[in-house]
Amino acid sequence: MLTNRRFLLRRRPQGEPVPDDFELVSEALPVLDEGQFLVRNHYASLDPAMRGWMDDLDSYMPPIPLDAAVRASTIGVVEESRAEGFAKGQWVMGLNALEDYSVCAAGGFTQPIDPGLVPSVTNYLSLFGAVGMTAYFGLFDVCEPKPGDTVLVTGAAGAVGSIVGQLAKLHGCHVIGIAGGEAKCARLTQRYKFDAAIDYRGKDEAALTAAIAAAAPGGVDVIFENVGGIILDAGLMNLNMHARVGLCGLISEYNSTERVGARNLWRLIVKRASIRGLLVADYVARFGEGAAQMGQWAAQGKIVVDEHVDEGLENTYAAFMRLFSGSNQGKMILKIA
Ligand SMILES: NC(=O)c1ccc[n+]([C@@H]2O[C@H](COP(=O)([O-])OP(=O)(O)OC[C@H]3O[C@@H](n4cnc5c(N)ncnc54)[C@H](OP(=O)(O)O)[C@@H]3O)[C@@H](O)[C@H]2O)c1
Repeated sequence: MLTNRRFLLRRRPQGEPVPDDFELVSEALPVLDEGQFLVRNHYASLDPAMRGWMDDLDSYMPPIPLDAAVRASTIGVVEESRAEGFAKGQWVMGLNALEDYSVCAAGGFTQPIDPGLVPSVTNYLSLFGAVGMTAYFGLFDVCEPKPGDTVLVTGAAGAVGSIVGQLAKLHGCHVIGIAGGEAKCARLTQRYKFDAAIDYRGKDEAALTAAIAAAAPGGVDVIFENVGGIILDAGLMNLNMHARVGLCGLISEYNSTERVGARNLWRLIVKRASIRGLLVADYVARFGEGAAQMGQWAAQGKIVVDEHVDEGLENTYAAFMRLFSGSNQGKMILKIA
């Protein structure tokens, strides 16, 4: 008999998640109601945002309920269907959970995808998924870079950051990335073609501020912020007049119990600069446009995308925690089937 392994949130993490915050259980497969279909999840996206969904906070999405499977974007194949438009064998993608099988409803977030359109079906979780669309709309719509601008990308070697940097280069910008460690910095300049890379590890705010100033002597016109904390503070000290800060993420703060960053907001006044939060969900209606453009650039070899695939639901905790240790080399994906 088929069973459904599910990675449950058992208690809300206090600071950094620990294994006991979760439990992998085996349950019987649910029986479908009319209008529902069952998806065999093949891959799940592991995203920093999932850490926020584990907290009991008023956010853009409700918290993951305790004892529910951890919410995640997945791609998989319809195993059984009682819903019109979803036939057995059809590839789909949607906001489901870290589990072998998810029950979905017609008219919900889970929609058909065509693996024939992309080099690897996992690209639906990277370049053509939320990550790629965050980079595309976050950079062009929120940060409004102009050719010749100096763009600073933090969390630059990660899934979103590596794409942002490449897009900014394609747009004719001077691009500086901040990442952790020599190897990641080498990847920024060699593989993703950033103009300069700064290793933040071992640097305090003053050293970071100086390193950014050295890499951008003319100042920074755009910050694409993925990290927050002292990295954001150092970036703010280097803003040019009318600079734009696109606030995409604050990963350095997701596991911290005290807020450490954004002490230099006064620089926005001095430089008449703006800071704007961005949420990729706002661009869903325009994903087709973004994906078409990204597909063209990828086919022309102008963008490369890296995916870090770990295997097995039993390894979910370790794979998820890579996002916070920085041991992921590209978009973090869990192979489930
Ligand atoms: N607003 C939106 O709609 C939206 C959508 C998608 C993602 N995001 C945000 O975008 C950011 C990047 O997400 P991603 O999916 O591309 O993940 P990712 O960058 O592939 O992985 C996370 C990376 O963050 C870095 N990091 C972790 N803890 C850090 C710390 N304390 N200080 C500095 N760097 C740290 C690590 O790189 P190093 O090795 O370089 O430290 C790690 O590899 C996150 O903040 C995420 O929440 C926002």
